[in-house]
Amino acid sequence: MGLMQRAFWWQAGVIYQIYPRSFQDSNGDGIGDLPGITQRLSYLVELGVDAIWLCPIFPSPMADFGYDISAYTDIDPLFGDLDDFDALLAAAHAQGIKVILDLVPNHTSDRHPWFLESRASRRSRKRDWYIWRDPVSNGPPNNWLSAFDGSAWEYDGASGQYYYHAFLAAQPDLNWRNPAVRSAIYEVMRFWFRRGVDGFRVDVVWHLIKDDEFRDNPPNAGFRPTDPPHHRLVPLYTADRPEVHDVIAEMRRVADEFPDRVLIGEIYLPLERLVAYYGRDLAGMHLPFNFSLLSTSWNAPSIARLIAEYEAALPAGGWPNWVLGNHDRPRIASRVGPDQARIAAMLLLTLRGTPTVYYGDEIAMKEVAIAPAQVRDPLGKKVSGRGLGRDGCRTPMEWDCTTHAGFSSVEPWLPLGRRLRRDNVLAQRSDNTSVYGLYRRLIGLRRKRPALLLGSYGSVRADGNLLVFTRELGREQLLVALNFGGTPVAASLPSGECIGRLLVSSAADRPDEPVRGSLSLRANEGAIVELCNGSTR
Ligand code: GLC
Repeated sequence: MGLMQRAFWWQAGVIYQIYPRSFQDSNGDGIGDLPGITQRLSYLVELGVDAIWLCPIFPSPMADFGYDISAYTDIDPLFGDLDDFDALLAAAHAQGIKVILDLVPNHTSDRHPWFLESRASRRSRKRDWYIWRDPVSNGPPNNWLSAFDGSAWEYDGASGQYYYHAFLAAQPDLNWRNPAVRSAIYEVMRFWFRRGVDGFRVDVVWHLIKDDEFRDNPPNAGFRPTDPPHHRLVPLYTADRPEVHDVIAEMRRVADEFPDRVLIGEIYLPLERLVAYYGRDLAGMHLPFNFSLLSTSWNAPSIARLIAEYEAALPAGGWPNWVLGNHDRPRIASRVGPDQARIAAMLLLTLRGTPTVYYGDEIAMKEVAIAPAQVRDPLGKKVSGRGLGRDGCRTPMEWDCTTHAGFSSVEPWLPLGRRLRRDNVLAQRSDNTSVYGLYRRLIGLRRKRPALLLGSYGSVRADGNLLVFTRELGREQLLVALNFGGTPVAASLPSGECIGRLLVSSAADRPDEPVRGSLSLRANEGAIVELCNGSTR
């Protein structure tokens, strides 16, 4: 255990992402809120997670469901107020759970007082807080595209200039080259840190700095018509600019003014660019989110390759992390199917690094089909019919089998899916063989086994449907074997003669089974085996 004490909480812990609108409604308006989360803390303790990350809870017109902030240091009345937040924070801390908030530094709402002042006139003191440019040939300043479709430039008739928005026009980008903007956001960080918040997940952090010459982005030769429309161009001049690392280092210094805080960066980049976000001498993000499992083909060789690439790319001392889902991507249980969702869980919770569990994935919640009239997500509305909408993974938590799933007393803001009797927390809690049972067992095992938390990763085999790796620390050696296919396979144990012991099967039915020579796995089965480390037991 001494070793575990030497790890930071954000290295040894499991992070659980909550989409506050959809976790628990406490006041009967069909929308989740902070007191609702407080009520459900005991569930999170039972599941065994160490920290929660809350998607934005700040005042917002909700054009992008909270990612358009109109006041950084307050709570939107939909979710409660600062007292509710303090109560949640105190209750979470009392139960040993850390709280991570969402910091959205790249853009504000167009109703934020900073933008209203900036927009008021070309001579406004805050004009340069946002990115304003003159028209070029009566049109936008360049070809930059918004991630939510169309030009990233919005014309402001009153002042005759355009402003830049990487997302909706209602989300103007702040000008991070302006030191006053940087100081203002650092003050926001300090406000929440002083209140006791344990860290931030930093929204689109690789977007903060744009090209100072405003050069056109080049066309993307690999663009396919099914890709999101803005992928037509390579975002060479709008994201991942070299200067972004200086502002991230500054942001990190603010976090370091407070003990034991964490910064987790939202960054969608290829692995070799992603790892630069640990910063020079690891003075950047503590954890640049590793989203590679979200887009990889779901098979043993591809996943083994990406683990190897990631492990090799990490800078010395850089701590890994893994993600299976979030509020922007289709649910894992729908993407890989319910059987493989168990393999995914075992992978997430046994790989080296900090896992982040998306709410509901622990009961294998599926993507919910959203009828056109029910679409709420602005991305879903703009590019309807292209399957890019994000409502399907943001639906209410399924607590029980009552009409509104125990989430609310009224019709929720997004529909619940078609549910089977076992698709909820209540049913799965009393069933040892459920996905929920598996998550609990895996999280419990991590706590007991330093090799799973801090041990080295060793690749053993990845061919056909089988992925086998070890986690090792001191004399503790664990073997993880995952069957990605629908037929049985056998994995031979590396240490020849010894008898291993099966600690967890994804099917939950082989407790303490001895394993000699080779381990047989059924279709879609994964197992963790304790190896005897040379001595025959
Ligand atoms: C991030 C958020 C996403 C949001 C976007 C714009 O990618 O995860 O939900 O729409 O930023 O703020």
